[in-house]
Amino acid sequence: MPFRDRYTGLINRYRDHLPVNDDTPIISLGEGNTPLIRLKNIPRHLGKDVDIYVKYEGLNPTGSFKDRGMTMAVTKAVEEGSNAIICASTGNTSAAAAAYAARAGITAFVIIPEGKIAMGKLAQAMMYGAVIMQIRGNFDEGMELVKQVAAEAPVTIVNSVNPYRLQGQKTAAFEIVEELGRAPDYHCLPVGNAGNITAHWIGYCEYSAARGSDVTQSCTFCGGNCRYAGGPVVGNRPVMVGYQAEGSAPFMRGAAVKNPETVATAIRIGNPQSWEQALKVKEESGGWFDELSDDDILAAQKLLAEKEGIFCEPASAASIGGAMRDIRSGRIPEGSTVVCTLTGNGLKDPDTAIAQCRDARMVTIDAQLTSVKEAILTHM
Ligand code: F0G
Repeated sequence: MPFRDRYTGLINRYRDHLPVNDDTPIISLGEGNTPLIRLKNIPRHLGKDVDIYVKYEGLNPTGSFKDRGMTMAVTKAVEEGSNAIICASTGNTSAAAAAYAARAGITAFVIIPEGKIAMGKLAQAMMYGAVIMQIRGNFDEGMELVKQVAAEAPVTIVNSVNPYRLQGQKTAAFEIVEELGRAPDYHCLPVGNAGNITAHWIGYCEYSAARGSDVTQSCTFCGGNCRYAGGPVVGNRPVMVGYQAEGSAPFMRGAAVKNPETVATAIRIGNPQSWEQALKVKEESGGWFDELSDDDILAAQKLLAEKEGIFCEPASAASIGGAMRDIRSGRIPEGSTVVCTLTGNGLKDPDTAIAQCRDARMVTIDAQLTSVKEAILTHM
């Protein structure tokens, strides 16, 4: 069977647009190429004429968008001869770092806030064999420690301050433009450390620069091989919208938040590392930042699961929750095409999911046909 068209990860897919060459030893788990799902029931629920798509990044190999950045960061670390990587994390980065380090046969050191990362993420870091340092402190403190130690010890930092991370993550924007045949009008993301919103903007800018607004014949981005080469280019770059959790919203406060809190532990960050870049993204794209309460985040998570059958983790739901609010208010006008990034899989954080499903339709019954029948009749 010919494997010529087999998908082998985003570096191979986009190698002409990434800092690799033919000798680069690629460390991949087949990340990227995630589904862009068009929502059916939520637009109807909102009563608005909008096209909403979710980019389901929870279907990456370790269950979050971090794999896009980690394949690049670990590939480059190995290429440069590094034997160990280190990161601070609210959970997903540590899972991805641990997995890609395992794949590469190097050591991952991860610093996580004790008791504040979701159970699935902790299980992943443990299973993949990372050295886990739980600190009595938060992500921002962990980040400072990582930067200090990486300056002195022979370990490569793989947080998004590592520029290769953003290079990998920009490919999500490429995939979206290729699938829609154009950029969306609005792209909504949850914002924590602000690396991902920055990476998406890099991707959209590169794509639009490569194609140009008046390109009609060949797509210079892909050398004329993509299925949209030659097609019209409309809406080159989206308005970028970033949503934070109310208790961890430095962009809304205009200053670092000292003790960030939120049920969306992935974005429990008070001092984003890509602060300046994210402000630039907002300005250049004509976008905005906003915040959601924990209740609104959880309600959006539940609604997406119930109405569309898509289970994302709480932080991810900030994008759809925020977008729904802005669509309702008209800030995102009718007729728009909106993409919301669902950054992580709902299975990462089963505790939070179960805790908010106390009204779940679950009954305990005898193992008898009559009991089953009775349950069906009661719940029809
Ligand atoms: N959503 C999820 C599920 C995340 O894990 C993160 C970040 C974000 C959104 C925010 O993305 O930081 O690029 O603005 N998680 C990091 C971690 C901080 O350590 O896993 P960002």
